[in-house]
Amino acid sequence: MPFRFEDAAPPHLIGLPPYRHSRPFEAGGRGPADEEWVALDYNENPLGPSPLAIKALQGLLRGINRYPDCHGHDLKARLAERLGLSPAHIALGNGSSELIDLCARCFLGSGTEAIMGDPAFAFYGRVVQASGSRRVPVPLKAFRHDLQAMAQRITPRTRMVFIGNPNNPTGSCVSPDEIAAFVEALPDGVIVLFDEAYREYLPDELQPDTVRYAKAGRPVIALRSFSKIYGLSGLRIGYAIASPDCIALLDKARQPFNVNILAGTAALAALDDAAHLVSSRRLNEAGKQYLYPAFEELGLRYVPTAANFILVDVERDGEQVVRTLAEKRVAVCSLARYGLPTSLRVTIGTPRENERFIAALREILPTI
Ligand SMILES: Cc1ncc(COP(=O)(O)O)c(C=O)c1O
Repeated sequence: MPFRFEDAAPPHLIGLPPYRHSRPFEAGGRGPADEEWVALDYNENPLGPSPLAIKALQGLLRGINRYPDCHGHDLKARLAERLGLSPAHIALGNGSSELIDLCARCFLGSGTEAIMGDPAFAFYGRVVQASGSRRVPVPLKAFRHDLQAMAQRITPRTRMVFIGNPNNPTGSCVSPDEIAAFVEALPDGVIVLFDEAYREYLPDELQPDTVRYAKAGRPVIALRSFSKIYGLSGLRIGYAIASPDCIALLDKARQPFNVNILAGTAALAALDDAAHLVSSRRLNEAGKQYLYPAFEELGLRYVPTAANFILVDVERDGEQVVRTLAEKRVAVCSLARYGLPTSLRVTIGTPRENERFIAALREILPTI
């Protein structure tokens, strides 16, 4: 019998489906041909990265023979100053995805349970399963997290509750008051992970003060990302905010040089680019004002969003709609794997991209 690696791996890992990239890449990766694609499938910032970040990267390439600072001192210091806490409250990650994975590896394992919304960002379920823990999905109510129902599902085996706020793929959010009540009522031994990848798209009054929990030593971890409004998806960088004892554990579990030189430098510059942030929010708002009435005109229901993407029900096989749109070089995401076979998740693009998407949708819907 030849050796089979599967025989040496735990069953919960073997059961995981392979990661599927929905974007139809040209052979050899994203070349100039991809410029023609209207890429509304990954919730990226259509405005591009902050110009200050691009400037900061210039001249850096000659230094990539060196390892980065494995503690990310400069970026942590800058974040700590902005957030009003200490660098010991912050961990950096190779995207916030790495931090989601690290949290699961640090706190979950066989015999534990992790609660999450259904549907919620699919990666939560993957890391929970990969850790050997059990995923406990709690249906959303009217497309929003049902925090009361989630609280009721907590058992002595529950170690973590994942709350995407705003949530992917619905774009919905829970209010600061709802969050405060949920955290106050948490039983001992349960950690809440607030995934705030899209936080900066929320109106100021809906941005919860998750930092205060880290300061108070509560069992709360807030994750933020430079991939979304800051426009740095391709560089992979995000951060966690939590009490120093939690951060020390995440730091032990990570690989030493998890954040590369380019990512750290670009993030530092992007943080100070207030103008880019304002323009990105404005573009997103303008996109909503165009897309909502366009969906209504097409007779399609959608979920009003607090993020940079919209869930829209096309009342047809969503996968087929995605494939047909792809023939017109418009990429959007099917939500079939989220249990919503007739819905799509569409990133809000530039005015030109939004118009191309709506024109393509208008053309193909009657044919499906
Ligand atoms: C809710 C949510 N959390 C986290 C991430 C991962 O972001 P990052 O690029 O920082 O790993 C995404 C990416 O789409 C997301 O939608």
